[in-house]
Amino acid sequence: MRTPFVVGNWKLNKTIAEALALVTELKNQLGAVKGVAVGVAPVATAIHSVAKRLEGTQIATCAQNCHWEASGAWTGELSPQLLADAGASWVIVGHSERRQFFGDTSESVGKKAAAVIQAGLGAIVCVGESLAERDGGRTLGVVDEQLAGGLAGIDLAGAARLVIAYEPVWAIGTGRTATPAQAQEVHAHIRTRLAERYGQACADGIRIQYGGSVKPSNAEALMSERDIDGALVGGASLEAADFIAIVKAARPA
Ligand code: PGA
Repeated sequence: MRTPFVVGNWKLNKTIAEALALVTELKNQLGAVKGVAVGVAPVATAIHSVAKRLEGTQIATCAQNCHWEASGAWTGELSPQLLADAGASWVIVGHSERRQFFGDTSESVGKKAAAVIQAGLGAIVCVGESLAERDGGRTLGVVDEQLAGGLAGIDLAGAARLVIAYEPVWAIGTGRTATPAQAQEVHAHIRTRLAERYGQACADGIRIQYGGSVKPSNAEALMSERDIDGALVGGASLEAADFIAIVKAARPA
């Protein structure tokens, strides 16, 4: 009932020319793919060119971050409105690298997510625990706190454009993936929390992506779990062949 959504998070990689080369290949090879939604999140300077190249396809252009205000004296920031103007239709907020290195908190992530929804875009809200938090038995508590903050400004209508990405920090860029069972446990918990907030029918429609060292070799096992509805892919999204294999693995059987 949920169409899986696979998004490539390119992080701080690829010039405009490199980005165009990759999306051209994705466009050619994924143009006819059915049963799975696809997106790419280039660096902000490439969003416009990538979105233009993807016009008329079903591949969405996403941004990796935003500010919560629409305009004003915020040197260096980009608003959801400007990202939409450049061609983005989704914004990732609360990625663990933003939380770890750039001071994003559950509160600021909540403001960003609300601003994204208000601007008419889709929000991919990332949550996930560190290794110390997992080892300390605090995984679900940390996820609860991040969800409460991240979703604070999103109402039932806005939840129609909401995607959650569960990304255990210890699995990001480490080659160490959560097992399908570990991921499913947290995904099911997230859906319970979404149901408490938005009702079961709405929660049943919200996609929950898994992220953290997703590769062609582990994608199918992860995606076959009941509450895993696609992936947020970092490293493996930089190569067309790997990303395409992951997209195909996410198609429902
Ligand atoms: P990774 O990154 O696939 O390289 O682990 C995932 C992410 O940070 O979204």
